[in-house]
Amino acid sequence: MFGGVVPELASRAHLAALDAVVRAALDEARVDLRDIALFAATGGPGLIGALLVGLTWTKSAAWAVGRPMVGVHHLEGHIFAIRLTEPRAIPPFVALLVSGGHTLLLHVAAWGTYRWLGGTRDDAAGEAFDKAAKLLGLDYPGGPAIERAASEGDPARHPLPRPMLHGGQRPDDPAYFDVSFSGLKTALRNRVTEVEAKGRLGDEVRHLAASFQAAAVEVLAAKALRAMEYTDCRRLVLGGGVANNAALRDVLRERMGERGELFAPPPRLATDNAAMIAAVARFRADRGEYAGLDLSARADLPLPGLMDGEYPKHGLSAC
Ligand code: KG4
Ligand code: ZN
Repeated sequence: MFGGVVPELASRAHLAALDAVVRAALDEARVDLRDIALFAATGGPGLIGALLVGLTWTKSAAWAVGRPMVGVHHLEGHIFAIRLTEPRAIPPFVALLVSGGHTLLLHVAAWGTYRWLGGTRDDAAGEAFDKAAKLLGLDYPGGPAIERAASEGDPARHPLPRPMLHGGQRPDDPAYFDVSFSGLKTALRNRVTEVEAKGRLGDEVRHLAASFQAAAVEVLAAKALRAMEYTDCRRLVLGGGVANNAALRDVLRERMGERGELFAPPPRLATDNAAMIAAVARFRADRGEYAGLDLSARADLPLPGLMDGEYPKHGLSAC
């Protein structure tokens, strides 16, 4: 274990696993490659080596059987995951995408039309969970490990800061919707050092995990609720691995009460999966947005359909 993803090893592992994974998927679905009407692969953002493996394989397969292909933005996949199980989660809504690589808050005006509200200034939410778990000696991926440990801990025992969350912030303040986790991580590290010096880390891990989770969840929930209030949206859609966190869902549900509705995909659709990529591909293909063989992967691929400028500086399209 490396406590994270090593890019070069990840690309090699993708390459080694891809044929077997495709074969198993085709077998399970009882279809032949020639039965596939539309091919799709993630074009970015992400680790370029791993992206290229999937994209190149897909281009070759689509070309070999003479079928069209679509390139998909990974985060648009996370937005569309909800469409696979929740017919009532229709735009406009606010989307909170919280994964290992990304944290962003969007106003989804329509499928394919997004306004940027806020994002992380440093670590992604899932990355923060992963780093906190590492500090506490817990397993990777850190999110589920922290959540398990926290379920037996007292979140008030080690008060930790709630970065970027203070009263008096206004929507035209760039920090209003943004989040940051590096200060929280440093505070946790300092606390771990103190507790360790007293030889009590073992006993305190669950309390430290609960305190970290409470702080991270508080910040994410507060920002998402601000976004709902600001856009006048009643619906909030979660996506990304951190959407599996029960504490996050509970706090959001409790705080929005009757005023809003939370939609979160089931765990296997919240974390990275191919079904969400297929959902976007169908949408893009319906709009005639096919990719050519010249399609290439981009580590920093921008989200398509993003309306220009920072949201608060533009007019509000009511939810
Ligand atoms: O969306 P995802 O599967 O992959 C990326 O695109 O990054 O998200 C993985 C991230 C990891 O950082 C993992 O620690 C986090 O999601 N995660 C969680 C939970 N389950 C997964 N974080 C908090 N609580 C969870 N229950
Ligand atoms: Zn993801």
